[in-house]
Amino acid sequence: MPLPFLALPWRRHRLLCSGCDASVGARTAEVMAGTPASLSGQDEGSFAYLTIKDRIPQILTKAIDTLHRHKSEFFEKHGEKGTEAEKKAISLLSKLRNELQTDKPIIPFVEKFVDTDIWNQYLEYQQSLLNENDGKPRWFYSPWLFVECYMYRRIHEAIIQSPPIDDFDVFKESKDQNFFESQESIIALCTHLQEVVRAIEDLDENQLRDEFFQLLQISLWGNKCDLSLSGGETRSQKTNVINSLEELKPLILVNDMERLWSLLNNCKKTREKASITRVVIVLDNSGFELVTDLVLADFLLSSQLATEIHFYGKTIPWFVSDTTIRDFNWLIEQMKMSNHKWMSKCGAEWEAYVKTGRWVYRDHIFWTLPHEFCVMSQVAPDLYAELQKAHLILFKGDLNYRKLTGDRKWEFTVPFHQALNGFHPAPLCSIRTLKAELQVGLEPGQAEQYVASEPNWLTTGKYGIFQFDGPL
Ligand code: F6P
Ligand code: MG
Repeated sequence: MPLPFLALPWRRHRLLCSGCDASVGARTAEVMAGTPASLSGQDEGSFAYLTIKDRIPQILTKAIDTLHRHKSEFFEKHGEKGTEAEKKAISLLSKLRNELQTDKPIIPFVEKFVDTDIWNQYLEYQQSLLNENDGKPRWFYSPWLFVECYMYRRIHEAIIQSPPIDDFDVFKESKDQNFFESQESIIALCTHLQEVVRAIEDLDENQLRDEFFQLLQISLWGNKCDLSLSGGETRSQKTNVINSLEELKPLILVNDMERLWSLLNNCKKTREKASITRVVIVLDNSGFELVTDLVLADFLLSSQLATEIHFYGKTIPWFVSDTTIRDFNWLIEQMKMSNHKWMSKCGAEWEAYVKTGRWVYRDHIFWTLPHEFCVMSQVAPDLYAELQKAHLILFKGDLNYRKLTGDRKWEFTVPFHQALNGFHPAPLCSIRTLKAELQVGLEPGQAEQYVASEPNWLTTGKYGIFQFDGPL
């Protein structure tokens, strides 16, 4: 089998950093050897198949609808040019939907953007994996992770090809709506956080640990609120999740919270005065989930379990609800402007964290590429090097889990460390509700409990994990 990127002569010039050498090829061969096949739409009836057949076209239809509904806004802003642009974007998205529904070949990107070359090289790589008789990569026959990422990148291409509405985020409305509809839960969460922070000096170690566990679980269940699973329909948090944590505990299938606590508590105890503990949070969805992540990040600083938090978001609108810089700033601003005392206090403090650099928001084009994380050190060595500086990396959500494990058909009992396939920049933890037919690191017999009684246990978001990889 050709190696990803390296079998192709252009890869060495375009994708590798100047410091990389030919031995990278051998290492990549080792990394990819022996890994199971990718999840794919080829498997009729699988979640991947249903996603490509039903969910993705639904998402596209909703995006087209959104553009349509903003028609007069585009006209007011840009005159006739706005109307023309709206028509163009709609026709490009309709074409895309048709390509998908008729399983047409995957075509290269044409519009210049920072990642266009990398994407097109990746398409060539996918092509190189096929036999001569197979033709071009197609929607239902290629790896699911690749085609699903490709679809979101094509939506972005349709928008950037349609100036002057080329900065329009077709998912913005649903992301914002999720935030507004979760107001009560957000208020409850902010009130809780402020109470904890006020008393933090008086908490003993056990109390601090219990609080850490609570906020971790809130961040976990916040991941139920992604909008791509519901085809963009609202999935907000209407009840106070703090009251449900005990009930939800049995639904945590892998629970490495203790290991996170030991790691951070140890950092706190052994840290020299001026030194730092950096926690990286690779964000997932905006709206309620983002609030839960920021509440956790606030607690990490207030409790001194960490001294700085680096967040990573997405450079372009992605998987419907993923956080972009606009969403991040917008949400903090909304919180600050709230009429609710504790909510606005959170907003003001979070803004101050950003201003003083204790919170750093970053993005990197790698997060919106189709690559599994085990090739990050070769495709995006700068990002990998940055992640290596973390004491702990928290990967939020299902898509990150798919990329961590390569979106492959692993046995349920394969150790997480093995499925990471060489991706070990720093101690890391996946915090994810299960929304894809993929799970590793289970005890023998554990999966079997669910397989018979709940055929969709892997995809409804009902179950969750804290899965850690790092030194014991
Ligand atoms: O549709 C693919 C998918 O990865 C699902 O498996 C999941 O429901 C969703 O997209 C994204 O989930 P998350 O926001 O948790 O990454
Ligand atoms: Mg998401």
